Amino acid sequence: MTAQLNPCGDVAVLVPAAGAGVRLGPGRPKALRLLGGEPLLVHAVRRLAAAPSVHTIVVAAPAAEVAAVRDLLAPVAPVTVVPGGAERQASVAAALAAVPAGPQIVLVHDAARALTPPDLVESVAAAVRAGHDAVIPVLPVVDTIKEVDADEVVLGTVDRSALRAVQTPQGFRRAVLTAAHAAAGDPLTDDAGLVEKQGVPVSCVPGSEYALKVTRPFDLALAEHLLATGA
Ligand code: CTP
Ligand code: MG
Repeated sequence: MTAQLNPCGDVAVLVPAAGAGVRLGPGRPKALRLLGGEPLLVHAVRRLAAAPSVHTIVVAAPAAEVAAVRDLLAPVAPVTVVPGGAERQASVAAALAAVPAGPQIVLVHDAARALTPPDLVESVAAAVRAGHDAVIPVLPVVDTIKEVDADEVVLGTVDRSALRAVQTPQGFRRAVLTAAHAAAGDPLTDDAGLVEKQGVPVSCVPGSEYALKVTRPFDLALAEHLLATGA
């Protein structure tokens, strides 16, 4: 059944989904790889559409797959699909340009984080609504972290207690994200990084293990298990 988005919602979600998935190995673009028989992107969009604050979803798809992605998502939720770019940052910028007037909170969410719970979407949006200009979901780093030189010789041990692993959705006051993208230089791997460069404080909220990014084959196997056990 097609989900309805909330016409009174204040959140637009941009979904960069235009990557190739090189680290996952040969095959279709990653967002179209199957998890439990459905593309990663379908899982991601379904969970976004289940978040009550979401008014608009804009997907940046691989340029050659725009029509296919529109057909794929039509039964899932009303979404806008635009062609993505060569770098994630360009894909986000393309999606941002397609957001209609209205929503004043913009979230950016990787299609590859297919099992992200709607509750996490809501908690990031709520933190922006409460007055934070930029919000990221984070988890503590569990492994000991070493800094190494070019020969893989250890230079030192980093204080783990001050480190966080960063997930998506990342949330922003719309004007803040628009200004950060307008000023963007070299591509970065996340949007909060652009906002940091503008000197805007970025706040953290607790992330979720279920928001793991499917990057390598092991992650896909883990996601299959999580889906099969109720995620
Ligand atoms: N992405 C995008 N446009 C790009 C590159 C990445 O929209 N030009 C998206 C991916 O589709 C993914 C998210 O950004 O949902 C996070 O990127 P990543 O996990 O690196 O995905 P890929 O770039 O597809 O994977 P890889 O780096 O292994 O090729
Ligand atoms: Mg990539």
